[in-house]
Amino acid sequence: MITRDGVFITLEGIDGAGKSTHIAWIAQYLQLRHAEVIVSREPGGTTLGEKLRHLLLTCSMHEETEALLMFAARREHLVQVIMPAMQRGACVLSDRFVDASYAYQCGGRGLNEDKMEVLEHWTIQDCLPDLTLLFDVPITVARHRCNASHEPDRFEQETCDFFERVRNFYLERADRFPHRIRLIDANRPISVIQEELEKILSSI
Ligand code: ADP
Ligand code: TYD
Repeated sequence: MITRDGVFITLEGIDGAGKSTHIAWIAQYLQLRHAEVIVSREPGGTTLGEKLRHLLLTCSMHEETEALLMFAARREHLVQVIMPAMQRGACVLSDRFVDASYAYQCGGRGLNEDKMEVLEHWTIQDCLPDLTLLFDVPITVARHRCNASHEPDRFEQETCDFFERVRNFYLERADRFPHRIRLIDANRPISVIQEELEKILSSI
């Protein structure tokens, strides 16, 4: 059991939705209100997690192996970074967390949701985010943005159908958990999105 003196915020969305762009701005904004703001990411966030990330983004593997490695990296991230920071009263911002596993491994790869729930319960227990910002864009827009910015990794090389399933799974989760997940139309100019983020964040 951990004390929850801190605030835990996650950013989600398909590749190219704008998470990395917005996380830096959000961190700056929150630094005005919180003594300590930690910016992290999944898969990754720890030395071991970054090694697992490299494997996940470059090696082909069975879909269940992929899910297990995502959760192995997540457990390390929680124990080494998120839980201690929350106990110190810090604000933790993570670029992706457990919703990504549901969206990509269940939605995208077709993995059974019951198995995911077992992994979720085992790995994170009650340490769910206080707030999840879901950046939503049409697949064509996200693809265009990704192509313009860097070489595609193993996930970014997936088909449009794969990303449609991922996006739809994210949207279903936003419907299912409206108290936690805030859906943001990320197909707008960055400054307009920031105005909406400011309104959301000013109330936490
Ligand atoms: P993600 O982290 O979700 O994969 P990024 O933040 O890396 O996405 O954004 C991918 C690319 O799209 C970057 O080049 C970024 O500058 C650009 N971008 C992000 N948000 C917007 C936006 N609202 N309008 C136009 N371009 C954007
Ligand atoms: P990320 O670096 O956030 O991708 P990007 O910045 O391009 O949006 O994440 C790397 C990839 O890992 C991303 O394509 C989604 C995938 N992923 C999963 O499939 N399951 C997960 O649980 C997580 C955290 C990420």
